[in-house]
Amino acid sequence: MTTKRILVTGGAGFIGSELVTQLAAAGHRVIVVDNLINGKRENLTHLTDADVELVVADIRERGTMARLLRGVELVYHLACLGVRHSLHDPHENHDVNATATLTLLDLARQADVTRFVYVSSSEVYGTARWAPMTEEHPTFPMTVYGGGKLAGECYTRAFWESYRYPTVVVRPFNSFGPRSHHEGDSGEVIPKFMLRAMAGKPMVIFGDGTQTRDFTYVSDTARGILLAGMIDEAVGGTFNIGQGREISINELARAVATVIGKPDAPVIHDAPRPGDVLRLYADSARAQRVLGFAPSVSLTEGLQRLREWYLSRGVSVEDLLAEERVHNWKKEESVNL
Ligand SMILES: NC(=O)c1ccc[n+]([C@@H]2O[C@H](COP(=O)([O-])OP(=O)(O)OC[C@H]3O[C@@H](n4cnc5c(N)ncnc54)[C@H](O)[C@@H]3O)[C@@H](O)[C@H]2O)c1
Repeated sequence: MTTKRILVTGGAGFIGSELVTQLAAAGHRVIVVDNLINGKRENLTHLTDADVELVVADIRERGTMARLLRGVELVYHLACLGVRHSLHDPHENHDVNATATLTLLDLARQADVTRFVYVSSSEVYGTARWAPMTEEHPTFPMTVYGGGKLAGECYTRAFWESYRYPTVVVRPFNSFGPRSHHEGDSGEVIPKFMLRAMAGKPMVIFGDGTQTRDFTYVSDTARGILLAGMIDEAVGGTFNIGQGREISINELARAVATVIGKPDAPVIHDAPRPGDVLRLYADSARAQRVLGFAPSVSLTEGLQRLREWYLSRGVSVEDLLAEERVHNWKKEESVNL
C-alpha cells in the first residue's frame, strides 16, 4: 500500500479514532478535523509517534476546510451529530450531517481529492421490513438523524452519478468497543449497560427490549471503512458493514451481565425512546465480496475487551456514570434512575 495523505473528519471520535489508528499503522499521513464537541484529544494521544495531526475546527467552516483539503488524496467523512441529538436539536443535526456533507463534497471535488468516503449509518433503513438487510432494502429513516445521514448518502452518490467524482458510501451497523460513548446525548446502549451493571445499578431498557440490533466491534467497523477508501472496485458503491448477527436488547443485557461476572444483574424497563428502530440485521455480503470485509471479533469477545478497557482507565465506574444521562434524547434530564 503506498503512503497517502488522508483527511478524516470526526477522527477524534469513537470510530474515527480507531480508523485513524489503523491508517497510521499502515503508514499513511493523517489530518484529523474535529471540533471536539463529542470527540476527545485523548482518543488520539496513543498516536504521538505517528504522522497524525489534529486540527480542531468545525467542518461547517468552508474556508478552513478548503485550505485543509489542498494536497489531500483521500477523505473519510465521519464527523456528525448523533441520533439522540437529532431528537432535541433537529436543525443543527441536519446542518452538520447533511448540509456540511454537501459542502465537503463540493470542496473535495474542487481540490481534486481523488476519493471521498462517506460514513453513513444503518439508521437510514428504519425498522427492517425483512432481514437480513441488503443494501437494496428500502430506506425509511425514523429520525432526523437517519434522514440527514440519508441525505448525505444521496449527495455522495449524486457526485458519482453526475460528475463521475469517485465516492463510496458505507453503512455501518451499531458499533461498540473502547472509546465508545457513555456520556451525554452520545451515550450508547452497550457502554451504558456495562457501566451501570458494573456499578450495581439497573440496566435501563427503553420499551419491551425485543428490539434488535447487529453489533459490530469497532476495529471491524473501522477496517470496513478503511477498505472502502482503498479498493478501486468500491467506487460508486454503497456497502453495509455489520457483524451479521441479530440480538435483542433483552439478550444484550444478559450478555453484558454475564461478561462482567454478574449474570443476575437487574434490568428495568422504561417507556420506549421516540423514533427507536425496532429491527436491524445486516447482510454484509457485498462488502465481503468487493472489499474483502469480514468481521473478526465476536460480541462476547468485544464485550470482554470493553470491560478490560474500563478497568484499565484508572477512572471509577461511578465517576464515568456521573456523565451518563438516562433519557439522553431530551434536552434536560432530571431523573436519575
Ligand atoms: N457508533 C455507531 O454505532 C455508528 C453506527 C453507524 C454509523 N456511525 C457513523 O460513524 C461516524 C462516526 O460515529 P461515532 O460513533 O464515532 O461518533 P462520534 O460522535 O464519536 O464521532 C463523531 C465526531 O464528529 C465530531 N464532530 C461533530 N460535529 C462536528 C463538526 N461540526 N465539525 C467537526 N467535527 C464534528 C465529534 O466531535 C466527534 O468526534 C458517524 O458518521 C456516524 O453516523 C456510527
